[in-house]
Amino acid sequence: MIASARVPATSANVGPGFDALGLALNLANTVTVRAARPAPPLDPMPAAAADAFFRAGRKKPFGFTWTITGDVPQSRGLGSSVTVRLGLLHGLNALAGSPLDADRLYRLCAELEGHPDNAAPAAFGGFTVARPDFSYQRYRLAPSLRFVLLIPDYEVRTADARRVLPKTIPFADAVRSAANAAAVAAAFAARDYPALAGCFDDRLHQPYRAPLIPGLDQMIAAGVKAGAIGGWLSGSGSTVACLTLANPDRVAAALRRACPDRSARTVIAAPDNRGVVTRLRPA
Ligand code: HSE
Repeated sequence: MIASARVPATSANVGPGFDALGLALNLANTVTVRAARPAPPLDPMPAAAADAFFRAGRKKPFGFTWTITGDVPQSRGLGSSVTVRLGLLHGLNALAGSPLDADRLYRLCAELEGHPDNAAPAAFGGFTVARPDFSYQRYRLAPSLRFVLLIPDYEVRTADARRVLPKTIPFADAVRSAANAAAVAAAFAARDYPALAGCFDDRLHQPYRAPLIPGLDQMIAAGVKAGAIGGWLSGSGSTVACLTLANPDRVAAALRRACPDRSARTVIAAPDNRGVVTRLRPA
């Protein structure tokens, strides 16, 4: 049998919701898995995902080959590592007779990632609020929303982007970020998108990461001036995301003009409300 898992791209943090908020986009990677003997060697990321699956599923490990195709670029803050991990977890689970449910597979993926904010929306679609214990709440996104993604030509590795974060932050910054994160979650939950204006302002990570993404603040400001409700650094970057209900082309042009990286490209994405979709078919 061959198992394939289509996993949507995700944008995590959504401004002030560091390691907690995330949403799913209609770009996706598809991971295809088939059993193979003898077991082919695996790189560390797929090996860890397979190990986690066989342990949690109490299944005797089997060898497999896998491929990934799709339009989620690597190390751009769009959840590509989750497309690999969650895709493999779902693919192996399907091949093994589905010993684990979607919730358990999401939790395994979040553990492998170290934080749940990409894993939750990739698993379930929509907008998610996920906590350090991996409990989550999930809300549908209005199909009319558009996410304008400015994708630079360079990568930012999440590990590098976490190293630049401070050990402590000023109390006033924590208060502002907490208020904004609550406002973002409430507005998405109520589908009151105009209420998001001004709420994406973050003081936990974006100011410290800005030097890694030249022009970050100028790009967000240009997107807002062109009609976007607001914008944020997608995950740990390098993509900048702007949310709009109207004129996404105008917002995209404004982002490109404000971006110092001339080889950056823009993608206009719609929401994904399905999350991962797995298929099993005969070889
Ligand atoms: N919350 C994570 C971060 C997302 O910002 O480091 C990146 O995977």
